[in-house]
Amino acid sequence: MNASPELEKVVPQAEDFLPLLGTDHIELFCGNAKQSAHYYMTAWGFQPVAFAGLETGVKDRVSYVLRQDKITLVLTTSLVPDGPINEHVNKHGDGVKNVALWVDDATKSWKETTSRGAVSVFEPKVLEDANGRVVLSAIETYGETVHVFVERKDYTGEFLPGYQPWNPAFRAPEVGLKFVDHMVGNVGWGEMNTWVDFYARVMGFAQLISFDDKDISTEYTALMSKVMSNGNGRIKFPINEPAEGRKKSQIEEYIDFYQGAGVQHIAVATDNIIETVTALRDRGVEFLQVPATYYDTVLDRVGTIDEDLEPLKELGILIDRDDEGYLLQLFTKPVVDRPTMFFEIIQRKGAKSFGKGNFKALFEAIEREQENRGTL
Ligand code: FE2
Repeated sequence: MNASPELEKVVPQAEDFLPLLGTDHIELFCGNAKQSAHYYMTAWGFQPVAFAGLETGVKDRVSYVLRQDKITLVLTTSLVPDGPINEHVNKHGDGVKNVALWVDDATKSWKETTSRGAVSVFEPKVLEDANGRVVLSAIETYGETVHVFVERKDYTGEFLPGYQPWNPAFRAPEVGLKFVDHMVGNVGWGEMNTWVDFYARVMGFAQLISFDDKDISTEYTALMSKVMSNGNGRIKFPINEPAEGRKKSQIEEYIDFYQGAGVQHIAVATDNIIETVTALRDRGVEFLQVPATYYDTVLDRVGTIDEDLEPLKELGILIDRDDEGYLLQLFTKPVVDRPTMFFEIIQRKGAKSFGKGNFKALFEAIEREQENRGTL
């Protein structure tokens, strides 16, 4: 029997008002995009894709587009003394400006979110070149971070109109990175629920999990976290805020150095974390190190795993288990000069969680780094 139109109106909407196809790209504002691009190519195995700058008729900025499987990074630096890119870099250091989300309809995405209270950064606009058309729109999120909605179904070019293919002679082999698993935002004291509410109300996300200071604390420091996910689970944004501890938490250190809320880490997925981390370490990427004693008891906690423990121990890879399986993960040291942004490498073997069982060992490792920086 078909429901009457009246009935359909009162049935809760199962339709996702902001369907997201995935992470489109992540744009960092940085002090020297040319050298950052070289770092992400050489050390991380990203491949050069596209370029915009003086040679393409852009006078005030330069952007390099890099890709590894489904992960696209854009590195942008200003070519002029003033303006928003410089202001961003001056205030925050190198960091993520745009978390761009891939959508079918950037106009509808903008309307649905702004009508629910999102602050517009720019209205839907059409960009065209010989490869077709793209529609972009954008809204503000925490700090000075922006969500750009990218509609590219009528576009066949490599990145966006205005960019030219970039084919330098130098290419380093990829390291097996596949896609963005999740991206974490750090927000200020008492702001976590504001942003959890933003993702729920404005973007239609649901809360997956929450951690409080009892879950995530050591003798010295603490934080709280809630994980927000969109309807199809392709976009997951944990939101952290600092919690009171005897010493300064890593979130507070981030907020101090970033001068506000921002993206703390980008978790990138691999199908073989041993190979990926071996390659990254060989190319100079630095990871946090937990004490060797972590491996004395880890299998008691997580049970049987497919991998040999020895290479995991050698590389310092962490293991955790939930009801659905287990995961392997490892965190880099900050990849920028300020102790702010870092990466996580993650391989999921069924687990859908975020490594709660590793938090204590991990935060103690971070505290040792903070101690060295004099910021604990
Ligand atoms: Fe993470």
